[in-house]
Amino acid sequence: MRFPEDVPVLSDDVVTLRAHTPADIDPVFEMCQDPEMQRWTTIPVPYLREHAENFLTEQIPNGWRDGGMWAWAIEYDGRYAGTVDLRDGDGGVGEVGFAVAPSARGAGVMTRALRLVVRHAFDVLEWDRVIWRAFVGNWASRRVAWKAGFRGLVVVPGGGKARGVRYDEWVATVGRDDALEPVGNWWKAPVVEGNGFRLRPFEPSDAKRIVEACSDERTQYWLPGLPSPYQLPDAEGFLGSRHENLATGEGVSWAIADAGTDELIGCVSLFDMTNRIDKTMAEIGYWLHPEARGRGVMSAAVRLVIEQAFKPVEDGGFGRRRLVLFAADGNTASAHVAEINGFTHVVLERSASPRRDGSFADLHGFDLLAAERT
Ligand SMILES: CC(C)(COP(=O)(O)OP(=O)(O)OC[C@H]1O[C@@H](n2cnc3c(N)ncnc32)[C@H](O)[C@@H]1OP(=O)(O)O)[C@@H](O)C(=O)NCCC(=O)NCCS
Repeated sequence: MRFPEDVPVLSDDVVTLRAHTPADIDPVFEMCQDPEMQRWTTIPVPYLREHAENFLTEQIPNGWRDGGMWAWAIEYDGRYAGTVDLRDGDGGVGEVGFAVAPSARGAGVMTRALRLVVRHAFDVLEWDRVIWRAFVGNWASRRVAWKAGFRGLVVVPGGGKARGVRYDEWVATVGRDDALEPVGNWWKAPVVEGNGFRLRPFEPSDAKRIVEACSDERTQYWLPGLPSPYQLPDAEGFLGSRHENLATGEGVSWAIADAGTDELIGCVSLFDMTNRIDKTMAEIGYWLHPEARGRGVMSAAVRLVIEQAFKPVEDGGFGRRRLVLFAADGNTASAHVAEINGFTHVVLERSASPRRDGSFADLHGFDLLAAERT
């Protein structure tokens, strides 16, 4: 192929993919100064102007001429906004890589550009499958891939490499017969105002209070799955797994925060939302910082979560049909939260709740149906 004459222009109504020109060298150089670019991609660091020059005047034209790399400039709002490329393709399978300039992020530019190149890979290059790879933690990239229909995500420990260092990697793919649309739910935890508290997404600054709450003797007693002693890395792991639960649709956790200070006073979660046999249910779980106990905070927080859980997805809720809640025999405070919120006690599972000493307590099961609340 000839460069730039044979580079096809791909466009939806909003973004246009075209051949790079020398005028893109400066914006590429500028984009590559961004710390996110340096953290999540394999570009040289420090990134010099000559790197941009070489990429645009040597690597990209050679990629088109020889085959093996097909890179487009993304134009949005009349300007260069990023670069997207397809690579390899031997045997009908190749990879996609992309970056958007910081000033153009969050406007859906990359999702549009990704759909355009994936269609091109299937329809023109006749690939059967496109692979997306990102270092673990690159949530913006993962969300773009999810929105454009990539699926079957796996973690490959040490699968990625940048500047000689190995990183864990996410890999997902999309096949030629797949719709370029999201598979499954990626939840967001909405902010909900309560009386004297608010439910909000967790933040990294909550870690210290999580350690306090989860080190508490009563929390440790009733939640025997918690690490003991519970330390800062445990809280950081918990915070990281909140993102994962949202992204896989498995669950939604809210920080219960003081309305005045925004300090963390507890946690309430919906989980098991991708249950193998019932994808319309959720289990509710919770814990409270010891300072916040005895004021009815958890009963009120669970009431708000029930509303969110039963609200249809199209109205910003979670579309649940049935909620369940479990409390070990003897945990009267937890059972009270269920009962005051209208849950029905439906089962006593014998010897079902492990204790730290190796013995098992009976477990009370409660449920609440959306149908009985209308
Ligand atoms: C990844 C990147 C290309 C995304 O470009 P973009 O044009 O902003 O992408 P979009 O606007 O189409 O979508 C980004 C989505 O990620 C979401 N997002 C951003 N940061 C996020 C985070 N920390 N957690 C969860 N979602 C996040 C945005 O909200 C948006 O989703 P929404 O529109 O549904 O709300 C851009 O951030 C970038 O260039 N990053 C640096 C380079 C890079 O990481 N390249 C990919 C290497 S694999």
